[in-house]
Amino acid sequence: MKQDTSSISAFATQFKQLDSLLSLSRPLWQNRSFECRQLPWGDAFPTLARSVWQIADDELDAIDACQLSLSERLLPSLKQDLQAAGSDWDLNLLLPEVAAATSTEPAEIISSLKNDSIRSLALLQADDMAHFSAHIKGRKWQQITAFVAQLPDTQLPVLEWCAGKGHLGRLIAKAKGRNVVSLEWQQSLCEAGQHFADKWQLPQRFVCADAFAEQQGQLEEQQLAVALHACGDLHVTLLQHASNAGTRQVVISPCCYHLIQAQYYQPLSMTAKTSDLLLTRADLQLPLQQSMIASAKGNQYRLQEMAWRLGFDSLQREMRQVDEYLPIPSIKQSQLNGEFETFSRWAANTKKVPLIDSIDWAHYQANGRERQRLTRRIDLVAHLFRSVFEKWLLLDRVCFLEESGYQVKLSEFCLNSITPRNAIISAFK
Ligand SMILES: C[S@@+](CC[C@H](N)C(=O)[O-])C[C@H]1O[C@@H](n2cnc3c(N)ncnc32)[C@H](O)[C@@H]1O
Repeated sequence: MKQDTSSISAFATQFKQLDSLLSLSRPLWQNRSFECRQLPWGDAFPTLARSVWQIADDELDAIDACQLSLSERLLPSLKQDLQAAGSDWDLNLLLPEVAAATSTEPAEIISSLKNDSIRSLALLQADDMAHFSAHIKGRKWQQITAFVAQLPDTQLPVLEWCAGKGHLGRLIAKAKGRNVVSLEWQQSLCEAGQHFADKWQLPQRFVCADAFAEQQGQLEEQQLAVALHACGDLHVTLLQHASNAGTRQVVISPCCYHLIQAQYYQPLSMTAKTSDLLLTRADLQLPLQQSMIASAKGNQYRLQEMAWRLGFDSLQREMRQVDEYLPIPSIKQSQLNGEFETFSRWAANTKKVPLIDSIDWAHYQANGRERQRLTRRIDLVAHLFRSVFEKWLLLDRVCFLEESGYQVKLSEFCLNSITPRNAIISAFK
């Protein structure tokens, strides 16, 4: 994901390469794993199928958490299947760009990002630092200091989009001495943010408003607009408004690509509008599906919940005689300490599924476990395309900004281990 060029054709060309790979590989990543009864691509990719079943269950999460391990384990078999079929995909695009691999960030990148963090620490006096960051969670503080370190050195006033409590805007106001307007729709967050700003006597003002409701009025030409992790349509709306207003500088870190109002992804750029990919909200969650290594107990609960949900799913399909997934609400972790039968009776009751008297609970429990093992392997292969897919989404935004007359830089503002949503798009007129 490390890239530092401002040529329109370079980004657009790169987009087309990724688009071509993603179109060809659709069967491997565009599927609903929990609906499948077998590997949906098993016949077309037999070597890959064998290799995913050769991976032990308790190895899956560690492989999944690291893009480098994913490619090392899966690419050789995928290559063999493609050769056998005479297909020519550009698999080099799947080799993890070093900074995206969680546990294998090479020294050079770590040191460059660490230097940014060190520069960002210099943003504040040591005395101020402890008080200023006291209300901000550790990772969020790391993110905003790293983000601020990437901002251009100009005196333009700042608009902070979907600000939350405005931690980012507050640091910009304090460290860079800029006037900041922070737009946020939750009254309580605006009040808390304004309270902090007043306490520190900072030039930060909150506007409590809906970002979707004609907030283009907040965007001006002589302005720097920033958005850290404004979800889906929220950051897209900012880009559109900023482009219309001719806002001089825009710096965003996108997240939650699936939080869109439309049923399908609406490409922003002319470049992406030529793509054949039709993406559902479920598809758009792919970049967010990165296993975090939780505690052993936490992992055990997660896997058991997956297996029990799938076991109940098999049961409800038969009981209702409807071959359709039936989502059930979130559960309390304590429910997983009981029996599968108790869990299933609760789920059936919640979803008004009639149950017969003689149910072979052990059969459905075992079936759920088998489906969980299958689902995890289908997901593992889809995750091979996770980074490329996110880059496709990022490049759509980049190309849109270029097409709107901006010079654009796409890079990373912090380590993947601080947040996997570590891409930053900086656009300047
Ligand atoms: C993921 S949080 C990010 C907050 C902050 N930028 C940060 O990085 O900590 C997204 C914020 O957007 C706000 N938000 C959601 N929908 C909004 C809307 N329609 N208009 C304005 N703000 C909105 C939420 O209340 C939330 O504070």
